[in-house]
Amino acid sequence: MEFSEKEIAPLASLDVWEDDVLQRYPEEDTTFKKTKDEYRNYDNPERDTVREFYRLNHKYQTYDFVKQKQAEFLKFDKKEMPIWDAFDFLNSLVDDSDPDTSLDQWQHLLQTSEAIRADGHPDWFVLTGLLHDMGKVLCLFGEPQWAVVGDTFPVGCKHSDKIVYSEYFEANPDAHDERFNTKYGVYSPNCGLRNVDMSWGHDEYLYQMVKDNLPEPALYMIRYHSFYSQHRENAYEHLMDEHDHEMFEWVKKFNPYDLYSKLPVPPDTEALKPYYKELLKKYLPATLKF
Ligand SMILES: [Fe+2]
Ligand SMILES: [Fe+2]
Repeated sequence: MEFSEKEIAPLASLDVWEDDVLQRYPEEDTTFKKTKDEYRNYDNPERDTVREFYRLNHKYQTYDFVKQKQAEFLKFDKKEMPIWDAFDFLNSLVDDSDPDTSLDQWQHLLQTSEAIRADGHPDWFVLTGLLHDMGKVLCLFGEPQWAVVGDTFPVGCKHSDKIVYSEYFEANPDAHDERFNTKYGVYSPNCGLRNVDMSWGHDEYLYQMVKDNLPEPALYMIRYHSFYSQHRENAYEHLMDEHDHEMFEWVKKFNPYDLYSKLPVPPDTEALKPYYKELLKKYLPATLKF
């Protein structure tokens, strides 16, 4: 399928999506949490681009689209590079036209990993923080923003109304296809998320890239960190098994580091390099295939 430029990049930058998630799940006590309507009526021109982003995401992320993207990208035949080059590559994503995006992608990764390290977690958890958004390099292969970032959700079964802007699924052909629009769709009760296809984006892509290299809790954190309708709203328990529930404790533990780890003073990248070089060497090969 061909998409217009407007359809490929509805947002000024990828960070706009993440800023919006932060609006939806603010850090403060839940008693002060905005109600759904307050969140949605929030007066902000950026909100319109976010809405458009979700409209496209919900319309085009079909079961077939996901299968097609898996076939296209899980061959990992696009590029091979040392992991540090990948971080640089990722950083070319920074959009200079967006004055609000003060932090580059690399700073977000480093802030996340440093916050995890400061809390004394195991080294693979720290590494997960450093890597978790690496899959965003998809954007540099010309992929539409809504097929790189955004809340992820299962495809092949009914879309939960707990998914943000769920009314836009009305335009998704799967919502009108009886193979895909029932509670379980192509799945069976509590079949386990390993048997469920998620909407396509940076989470699944990176998971597939590093699945042989990291401990299982790390892989869950990477694979499901944008699955807000489950880890925040519990909307898909009917597809999960016991093991998923155990592992989602890690996904939930990771989320605050992703959302709330913006430090007032950015970490000193150069000083931290030796530590992270060793850490990368411990778990990953010298080059990664994209
Ligand atoms: Fe992410
Ligand atoms: Fe992130």
